[in-house]
Amino acid sequence: MRLQTGDHKTLLEKLLGATSRSGRLQSRLFVQLKRVSERLGIRVIPISESMFDMEEEFNSLYKSCRAYTESTPERMYALYKAVEHVVHSGIGGDLVECGVWRGGSCMLMAMTLMLHRDTSRRIYLYDTFTGMTSPTEKDFFLKDGRKALDMWKGSGDAVQSRWLAVPMEEVRENILSTGFPEERLVFVKGRVEDTIPGVVPRGVSVLRLDTDWYASTIHELTHLYPLLADGGVLLVDDYGVWAGAREAVDEYFARQGIRMLLNRIDYTGRIGVKPCRGEPRDGSADVPD
Ligand SMILES: C[S@@+](CC[C@H](N)C(=O)[O-])C[C@H]1O[C@@H](n2cnc3c(N)ncnc32)[C@H](O)[C@@H]1O
Repeated sequence: MRLQTGDHKTLLEKLLGATSRSGRLQSRLFVQLKRVSERLGIRVIPISESMFDMEEEFNSLYKSCRAYTESTPERMYALYKAVEHVVHSGIGGDLVECGVWRGGSCMLMAMTLMLHRDTSRRIYLYDTFTGMTSPTEKDFFLKDGRKALDMWKGSGDAVQSRWLAVPMEEVRENILSTGFPEERLVFVKGRVEDTIPGVVPRGVSVLRLDTDWYASTIHELTHLYPLLADGGVLLVDDYGVWAGAREAVDEYFARQGIRMLLNRIDYTGRIGVKPCRGEPRDGSADVPD
């Protein structure tokens, strides 16, 4: 099949319009869609194929919260495993997300805690609930250098951006729809630069950072990473995409002299387990006598 300019859109619209007709038709359409995409240099993988190795428990939780998050299945799975890990390993502390948007990641935290019958921990939700704060020159797309400031200015008036603004009451309703106890939710409204360290948990077991910019990310690390328990899990959402988030993470760990394996979850997400302070750094504990 030879495609003319403009054919791609029409063909895709036809394919998508017909997807509900039958399973057999769907798989034929998928083959066509894959062919067209490959000509465009795009790889199409069915969701079921990219998630086949993930536990069924996760898949069903993910279905209930995917409409409320910007995160990928890979990053949500990493969060699910992080919560499961701290519960199973008895690592104490509350769960924290900085930058919650519609609340999808916190819904997953809540549902995972309930799945493992642990509702003793609180979930702290930090957000302006009025959208992204102003970025600086440090904040640009690593891929193409596009400046966050230009995007921020284009998404509101001169004073306040409405980029990713979701009112707190809407987020609260989303989280409560999971059945998680309301008294275990701590909503902290405002710029993290203003609200932290004024309102922080006594201890943290899972720390998820997703406010995108340098200034907020370095502030969160400075005040919240020290509260993370040894063996607790840090997840950084924007390390691969936003230059400022990456700079903040690299700067913080270099300054503190902390060597942490921050592993890749997907094109942007990173995950690491806080090293235990008692462990010798030269690995001598692993050498038999
Ligand atoms: C990318 S969204 C978060 C997506 C969300 N974690 C998810 O799983 O879908 C970024 C969020 O960070 C919030 N935010 C950005 N800068 C902030 C700051 N300095 N203080 C507090 N919240 C901030 C925005 O309001 C927005 O809701």
